[in-house]
Amino acid sequence: MVTISVCLGSACHLKGANAVLETFLALIDRYQAQANVQMAGSFCQGRCTEGVVVQIDDLLLTNVTKDQVFELFTKYVLNGDKE
Ligand code: FES
Repeated sequence: MVTISVCLGSACHLKGANAVLETFLALIDRYQAQANVQMAGSFCQGRCTEGVVVQIDDLLLTNVTKDQVFELFTKYVLNGDKE
């Protein structure tokens, strides 16, 4: 089980956090990955200038755009990468 948390603070929201979250949700649906991934939203992570901030298990990622979500999903959910 992978936990993916998207920052839903106002700065990340302005930078497209909703689109990032929705893209993850659409991929989970498309790949029927509900049993392998848990999605969450988080409050501000204190890295507002580097949004969108996404946490995948213990890994904190910054400057995430919706165009990167497929790559992240493939790496961490489908392939089960831990780094
Ligand atoms: S709003 Fe996302 S890190 Fe502050």
